[in-house]
Amino acid sequence: MSNKIFSGIRPSGKLHLGNYLGAIKNWIALQNDPQTEQAIYAVVDYHGITTPFDPKTYSKQVMDVILDYLAAGIDPEKSPLIRQSHVPEHTELAWIFNTITPVSWLERLPTYKEKIEETQGKYTHMGILDYPVLMAADILVYKSNLVPVGDDQKAHIDLTNEIGKKFNHMFGETFPAVKTIKAEGARIKSLQSPTKKMSKSGDEGIALTDDPDTIREKIKKAVTDSGKEITFDPENKPALSNLLTIYHLLSEKEIKTIEKDYAGKSYSDFKADLAEVVVNFLKPFQDKHRELSNNLDQVEAILKKSEEKARNLAAQTLQEVRKNIGVN
Ligand code: TRP
Repeated sequence: MSNKIFSGIRPSGKLHLGNYLGAIKNWIALQNDPQTEQAIYAVVDYHGITTPFDPKTYSKQVMDVILDYLAAGIDPEKSPLIRQSHVPEHTELAWIFNTITPVSWLERLPTYKEKIEETQGKYTHMGILDYPVLMAADILVYKSNLVPVGDDQKAHIDLTNEIGKKFNHMFGETFPAVKTIKAEGARIKSLQSPTKKMSKSGDEGIALTDDPDTIREKIKKAVTDSGKEITFDPENKPALSNLLTIYHLLSEKEIKTIEKDYAGKSYSDFKADLAEVVVNFLKPFQDKHRELSNNLDQVEAILKKSEEKARNLAAQTLQEVRKNIGVN
């Protein structure tokens, strides 16, 4: 009973099977782990506005992600699920952190450099540069010590530790050291180009909310490799190995068993069955999703309650922080 977990998700569209098998499944395991003392998950809507977004549809986009996480099994009684903007202590602490964070620490981050390159300098505003400081505040405002994230976030967690350490040094021991835990379980690949990660666009990925016919169609159209044996061989048969991995993770059958079951059968037999495995696996999620979508008032109430719990915790940290820096 000693871990305090925090993680954030950007509200960037519907979740797909790769997100589920890669990250969400882990979050649910962590929420049920006896070592977990506290787990808070946030849709980071103030991070989301650092890149282009549509104000008319943004709150719906945030809600879509909330519904996906609740339907996938995040239990808000155990782990509060919040909208970052509804717990203003995050941004308040970020401001205080701004006053002790050298600009050079932010300018050297690979994520910042990439963004600048990607947009040819077009989106250089304070928000892009400051993004990791808000992230540090998200984590430390709950005195969290464990953050499930992918490898791409490692530099941000290092920075979080540097900021926490500097604060402790300047104003007295306040924040714990933070560690990452791998959020990535399985790496599911795109159905169209099996060397890339599954993404949300087009036929590349299966959204958790895709209806059965869409799922069948997407799997039918998934690329396969040459040859006709159903064998797991990521080097030579990347496409089929990806499909076998999905089958294995969703059915919990061993890959060896699946290979045996399909010995002598065709790719299309295998794909037809895989489609049904996916459809069946997603059914409880989709039923729950539908129920929640029809009861948005109830979802709003769940969020309010989670956010209130989170605010209580965050306010305590902020009180201590203000006292330590003499602004109280
Ligand atoms: N930067 C993270 C991402 O892009 C999202 C995020 C924001 C986050 N605040 C966080 C992740 C705090 C973990 C903890 O995925």
